[in-house]
Amino acid sequence: MDHTEHIDKQSSAPLPGTLAERAAAEAAAFTTAVAATRVLRSPESVEALRLSYLGRKGKITALLEDLRNCSKEERPAAGKAVNVLKQTIEREIELLKTEAGAWQVAAKLAATPLDIHLPVDAWVPQGSLHPVTLIRREILGEFRRLGFTVYDGPEIDYDFYNFSSLNMPSDHPARDMQDTFYIKEQDHLLLRTQTSNIQIHCLLNEKPPLRIVAPGRVFRVDSDPTHTPMFHQVEAFVVDRGITFAHMKGTIDAFMKAVFGANMKTRLRPSYFPFVEPGAELDLQCVHCSGKGCRLCKQTGWLEVGGCGMIHPNVFESVEYDSEAYTGFAFGFGIDRMAMLKYKLDDLRTLFEGSYSFLGHFPIFT
Ligand code: DAH
Repeated sequence: MDHTEHIDKQSSAPLPGTLAERAAAEAAAFTTAVAATRVLRSPESVEALRLSYLGRKGKITALLEDLRNCSKEERPAAGKAVNVLKQTIEREIELLKTEAGAWQVAAKLAATPLDIHLPVDAWVPQGSLHPVTLIRREILGEFRRLGFTVYDGPEIDYDFYNFSSLNMPSDHPARDMQDTFYIKEQDHLLLRTQTSNIQIHCLLNEKPPLRIVAPGRVFRVDSDPTHTPMFHQVEAFVVDRGITFAHMKGTIDAFMKAVFGANMKTRLRPSYFPFVEPGAELDLQCVHCSGKGCRLCKQTGWLEVGGCGMIHPNVFESVEYDSEAYTGFAFGFGIDRMAMLKYKLDDLRTLFEGSYSFLGHFPIFT
């Protein structure tokens, strides 16, 4: 009985100089050493701490050795105290090792200031804008200055928008000049042959007054030095009460002068397009010889760039507009042709071949 009582007392309050008491003292000393190591923040001090407790000549190793020599009565409590201390120290050292990794990274970052700049090589090729993109941006910019709004329409469209509502019914001979690609088993669907289809979409979706410019790709069954199966057009039109042929002439002239310079002259020649009446061919003074006559303009001094006219009453009627109340003009021209004239290119196909040695001559920005 005496014996049991003795052990109980010992485990709750170790006697001075006993192994358990020494373990408690080491536990307190270890806590202080850990705090000091955290101040030093070096992986070396963590390793030194580990060796001084857990190494071959360390304090825990010494306590474990002393355990062998202590009395039978003392041993259970002392053994427990030393083992608990050993586990606590091992856990704490592992934690410090992890922290030491972070200390190292932080020290490195503090020593080398972070340079967030990529090395600059002024000669890295920067690419350039395609000539068609350049001229399209310029064309739309000039139209915007004249108060026009840019409008878009589908490249795959119904016969109704591309032909029949533009006064080109299915038996109309003018269709022969615009043969195109049809969608298999959907014979009313086709690749549009002209951006004029946007007139119909716009008239149906919006209300006058309308001042619209509509760029886009168009398609035809054509392929030779001056024709590609795909090319680009711009359609411009104005619809309101009281619009006249004079408005059209003035708009075309102002636009061409803005793109080609104040001395540029334009000319209209009577012509036929099914969706306008009266209709005209739109000519530009030759950009090469300024009207004197050369090979480019076949000695005429003029270059044909597009068509124009007053919107035909049948077009208005096909979209249920009152053609007595509203009038309008429309004109259309090829963007690729404009690029050729502006940048003095002699083969249309160079625009679509994707050769970098050709395209690299154009600027990056407009
Ligand atoms: N869409 C015609 C074509 O591709 C060009 C054209 C002619 C457009 C006369 C017009 C116009 O708006 O009035 O050949």
